[in-house]
Amino acid sequence: MAAPSRLLIRGGRVVNDDFSQVADVLVEDGVVRALGRDLLPPGGAHAGLRVIDAGGKLVLPGGIDTHTHLQFPFMGTRSVDDFHQGTKVKEEMKTLTQEKGVNSFKMFMAYKDLYMLRDPELYAAFSRCKEIGAIAQVHAENGDLISEGAKKMLALGITGPEGHELCRPEAVEAEATLRAITIASAVNCPLYIVHVMSKSAARVVADARRDGKVVYGEPIAASLGTDGTHYWNKEWHHAAHHVMGPPLRPDPSTPDYLMNLLANDDLTTTGTDNCTFNTCQKALGKDDFTKIPNGVNGVEDRMSVIWEKGVHCGKMDENRFVAVTSTNAAKIFNLYPRKGRIAVGSDADIVIWDPTSTRTISAKTHHQAVNFNIFEGMVCHGVPLVTISRGKVVYEAGVFNVTAGDGKYIPRKPFAEYIYKRIKQRDQTCTPTPVEREPYKGEVITLKSRG
Ligand code: URP
Ligand code: ZN
Ligand code: ZN
Ligand code: ZN
Repeated sequence: MAAPSRLLIRGGRVVNDDFSQVADVLVEDGVVRALGRDLLPPGGAHAGLRVIDAGGKLVLPGGIDTHTHLQFPFMGTRSVDDFHQGTKVKEEMKTLTQEKGVNSFKMFMAYKDLYMLRDPELYAAFSRCKEIGAIAQVHAENGDLISEGAKKMLALGITGPEGHELCRPEAVEAEATLRAITIASAVNCPLYIVHVMSKSAARVVADARRDGKVVYGEPIAASLGTDGTHYWNKEWHHAAHHVMGPPLRPDPSTPDYLMNLLANDDLTTTGTDNCTFNTCQKALGKDDFTKIPNGVNGVEDRMSVIWEKGVHCGKMDENRFVAVTSTNAAKIFNLYPRKGRIAVGSDADIVIWDPTSTRTISAKTHHQAVNFNIFEGMVCHGVPLVTISRGKVVYEAGVFNVTAGDGKYIPRKPFAEYIYKRIKQRDQTCTPTPVEREPYKGEVITLKSRG
């Protein structure tokens, strides 16, 4: 039987980033057609219309995970959770932006001798981003210090996963974050700091925003939901499964701190940096932590972890939850209001959310390919009941209805107004001009040539 082309989500509390309202949502051909009270026409039969009762539940814009690595070839192996396509980003930034709809580029300050860019290269790349209307993203860690720190740890006989954190403490992340912001600011290019993992780096982003810099910080499910004490776990595989860069931080107050900053807009979006490796892949580094493939899970659990630690704990309300899991990303990456909002004309990417039910996260029950879950045992309030992607019910009552290739690539236009309005205005009004002077007419010494 063909899926009904129309859906009516009845009686739920529709939550956008600015306000919530009890309303019906009528979906036709993948798009929200109407929003309001009592949209069901009177009478019994409504051919081709499926009605979903959302009474007592929340109706949220679909989450936007700002940062994943699926089927990512990395550190000699490949992340196990897959994805239909990857992107090669080299010097063809302009072509990618103008012809392929790519409007963000990630630059690495870490991974020396592999991806690491030095300051002049960052300056050039940020300048290019600005010229083509893209947002520059950085992985902010000082790659030279990591390389020296790793040698030091190995020389001390520290070969286990704890060495991964010890060779790259918070200051290594904070220094690079400040350096990236300084360079972006010199270019007047908007900047997006991916995977903010530490209190120190988050403070750098917060200070820069208060100084008026156009910068956004992205904590991830891992940094909001767990911490780096796991690197000292006696089980090698347990510790190794937490290895990612920048590392989780041993200071156990980190997740709470990052959530506070996310709640008050010092930090802006949430990703996962989902980059999963099975134990046998992590074991490439069983005798040397520098060889452990870096990456953790998160894509399946992000919404629940943020609901639990953010909304259930009382740090943010349901509207801020929508802002940080969906709307802000849609604005920054220029998909708004097609994505990131439930409104007439928006794509019908919708989650029916039960804020009171709980679920326990476990690798035994998760739907990811990886054999470990860094949130193992966490009980989360906030459970998705129904997930709708462009009008199609793709998940309901524990059952998925998806086929590989169902996803759709959306080209993104450059010069997102949300970030570029201020940038363009600053170019017009804040560009320095020379002081007008009479030419100097006095004596000038002659330098001796050195031959
Ligand atoms: O450890 C991490 N973060 N793995 C994914 C690659 C990256 O740096 O984002
Ligand atoms: Zn990274
Ligand atoms: Zn374990
Ligand atoms: Zn990443």
